[in-house]
Amino acid sequence: MYKKLDETISDTFVKPEKGLYTELFVIENLGLGKKAGNYLKEKYSPKERFKMMRKEYNLAQNNIVKPLALEELNGQKTYVLEKIDGDMLMNSLYKIKGNTKLFYSIKQQLEDTVEILHRNGYVHGDLVSGNNIMLTKEGKIKLIDSLYIPKDFEYKNIFIDLDNEAINSVINLMYGKVGKFIR
Ligand SMILES: Nc1ncnc2c1ncn2[C@@H]1O[C@H](COP(=O)(O)OP(=O)(O)O)[C@@H](O)[C@H]1O
Ligand SMILES: [Mg+2]
Repeated sequence: MYKKLDETISDTFVKPEKGLYTELFVIENLGLGKKAGNYLKEKYSPKERFKMMRKEYNLAQNNIVKPLALEELNGQKTYVLEKIDGDMLMNSLYKIKGNTKLFYSIKQQLEDTVEILHRNGYVHGDLVSGNNIMLTKEGKIKLIDSLYIPKDFEYKNIFIDLDNEAINSVINLMYGKVGKFIR
């Protein structure tokens, strides 16, 4: 069951499989009820999540973390991901100060990535408060840790709205940090 790792990528980040913990938490918070959670549980497996991660990555290869493999490590299902050389966007806001070019670049990358996911039937679902957005040393945005939301999920539109609102508030927050140089 071991898949060969992508040899073009030297550094990897391993992440233990945690099931639907975050999804069920968000569903509960949104007050969507048991049926919604049960639907996800029926459809879920680590393999299905990995497939979804691959599909999302293929839509926006520059801006979504690359999933390399799903492996069993010490009896624990584990996702092997490309390691991102960077930091969380929310910890990198100081870089935007006075840097209009970087601000507009990040804004564009965020809007484009979320738009292409939604246009193809996918959602991220967990971007609120700038969560799960990384910024590389080269100024590239990388989304990590998306929720498992199947294309035909009854409440998908709620998650689309959540993504859009999250991106807008992150952009507004950044806007406030750019400073006097902005036009
Ligand atoms: N591919 C990656 N490369 C480098 N750091 C990562 C990567 N994925 C996650 N991280 C780091 O680990 C933290 C937690 O990862 P995340 O996938 O969001 O897991 P969680 O389920 O705990 O939210 C992130 O905030 C980030 O700092
Ligand atoms: Mg996370």
